[in-house]
Amino acid sequence: MGTNFITAQQVSKSFGTKHVLTDIDLTLPAGTIYGLIGPSGAGKTTLVKSIMGMEKVDHGTVTVMDAVMPNRQVMAKIGYMAQSDALYETLTARENLTFFGQLMSVAPKQLKQTIAYAANLVNLTKDLDLRVSDYSGGMKRRLSLAIALIQNPNLLILDEPTVGIDPELRQQIWEELNNLKATGKSILITTHVMDEAERCDYLMLIRRGIALAQGTPAELKAKYQVDSIEQVFLKAGRLQDADHSNR
Ligand SMILES: Nc1ncnc2c1ncn2[C@@H]1O[C@H](COP(=O)(O)OP(=O)(O)O)[C@@H](O)[C@H]1O
Ligand SMILES: [Mg+2]
Repeated sequence: MGTNFITAQQVSKSFGTKHVLTDIDLTLPAGTIYGLIGPSGAGKTTLVKSIMGMEKVDHGTVTVMDAVMPNRQVMAKIGYMAQSDALYETLTARENLTFFGQLMSVAPKQLKQTIAYAANLVNLTKDLDLRVSDYSGGMKRRLSLAIALIQNPNLLILDEPTVGIDPELRQQIWEELNNLKATGKSILITTHVMDEAERCDYLMLIRRGIALAQGTPAELKAKYQVDSIEQVFLKAGRLQDADHSNR
């Protein structure tokens, strides 16, 4: 494989007459946590789905693990957590994990082990045999994350994984994402929570489908001469607005 897990070049996408993504470039090397940061409606989910090959782009190309997307085989190798939970409500969490593990061809012997690992990571071990219909929103998010991890993927794409998750567990999840990164895995994560941005190695700040700024948190703060990513966002956003009104 080349050095990058994901290469997106000049990706544009519209729904009808609405431009949702405009000329987006994104490169995700191995062993990196890449954060897509932006407010609701910015285009994060559309970009993630375009990278997954679930949305057809109007313009540009996406390559994941050397394959031009869409590509079913590559898609199946990605640990993907969608923004809305896709779980079987009438089954227990363990049954959901088993089902998805089998779907992803995890060997039966290994599956028991990975279910234990993933459940422990998201703090669901004692609730594994409850039906998902009895789960809270936060528990469902955690189960979805466990499912994304079940096949031990080298590439994780997580769309707002920490929504509805309490701060303590969020901390644990970030620690584990860092552990996964240390083993050479790559993670693309979306969030609208600015303090999570600081935990990423590299960021794209996205607003109205346009990449406002890209770089490491330290680079961005230095470039805009501010001391938080939130302030980078505000400053870059104002520049975007000024740029628009000058046209
Ligand atoms: N299938 C769709 N059809 C029409 N508009 C869509 C569709 N999906 C997303 N959009 C619009 O695209 C914009 C970006 O949405 P989305 O990618 O979900 O943003 P984010 O994940 O950053 O909140 C929004 O204005 C949303 O309403
Ligand atoms: Mg979204």
